Amino acid sequence: MTKPTTGQRVALITGGAQGIGRAIAERFLKGSVAVVIADRNRSKGRRAASELSRWGDVRFLPLDVSSESQVRTGIDDVIRRHGRLDVLVNNAGIVTPGTGFDFKRWKEIVAVNLTGPFLCSKYAERPLRRSRGSIVNIASTRALMSEPGTQAYSASKGGLVALTHSLAVTMGPAVRVNCISPGWIDTRNSRLRPADHQQHPAGRVGLPRDIAELAWFLASPEAGFITGQNYVADGGMTKKMIYEE
Ligand SMILES: NC(=O)c1ccc[n+]([C@@H]2O[C@H](COP(=O)([O-])OP(=O)(O)OC[C@H]3O[C@@H](n4cnc5c(N)ncnc54)[C@H](O)[C@@H]3O)[C@@H](O)[C@H]2O)c1
Repeated sequence: MTKPTTGQRVALITGGAQGIGRAIAERFLKGSVAVVIADRNRSKGRRAASELSRWGDVRFLPLDVSSESQVRTGIDDVIRRHGRLDVLVNNAGIVTPGTGFDFKRWKEIVAVNLTGPFLCSKYAERPLRRSRGSIVNIASTRALMSEPGTQAYSASKGGLVALTHSLAVTMGPAVRVNCISPGWIDTRNSRLRPADHQQHPAGRVGLPRDIAELAWFLASPEAGFITGQNYVADGGMTKKMIYEE
């Protein structure tokens, strides 16, 4: 039986077990939104949910976003337990750019990075319409620019930017849909060189919370006039001319 709708908003964050997704989960919890972390990594997902529980109501949902049956039953489960869904963050991604013309890897990367958000949006549509909620997709600046050998990753993220405006036009006015394209985000607390920071017009490499704050804003009522857009958060790197002297 579906739990009756309560006052607390609910966000489903895919790939929330670590990195950017985990930071988004933390931001939403701190904003008093209940969070469901959907991730295919069970051990990291459980650990993240347990560590984040100090900030609020958070639960782990084991889920592979590229599996239609898992997405359907996973979102059914969210509605059964919480009675509502207000925000879907399509963040899960395979972050491996250098796969060239490898067709097997192409299919895997497109299945997770592009088909995953399509499936999650499909099964979240009805509850999001009911709550007049919103979707935030996490693409990449690689949707806009490339290194050699990045066909699958770049194309999957370019597809996600296009899926964003298609969903916005399809699901509006009930549901707003926006996209964030991060640049270099240090998710592992890496030992970085001064040059890594200084090459960015903003003077530093990005942090997961830079993306989390933008996702929080885009999902908020304050962003009520914004839909179908792609926001680049890359410290200015895509605005920098890089022709060699
Ligand atoms: N870190 C960066 O510099 C950067 C830059 C641009 C874009 N991005 C994008 O941001 C998102 C998050 O990146 P990150 O660096 O935090 O990645 P990450 O690898 O640290 O975390 C990704 C998470 O997604 C999960 N995941 C992968 N495939 C999945 C699937 N099929 N179903 C469910 N969960 C799955 C993983 O288990 C992991 O927990 C990705 O979409 C990535 O493409 C990251």
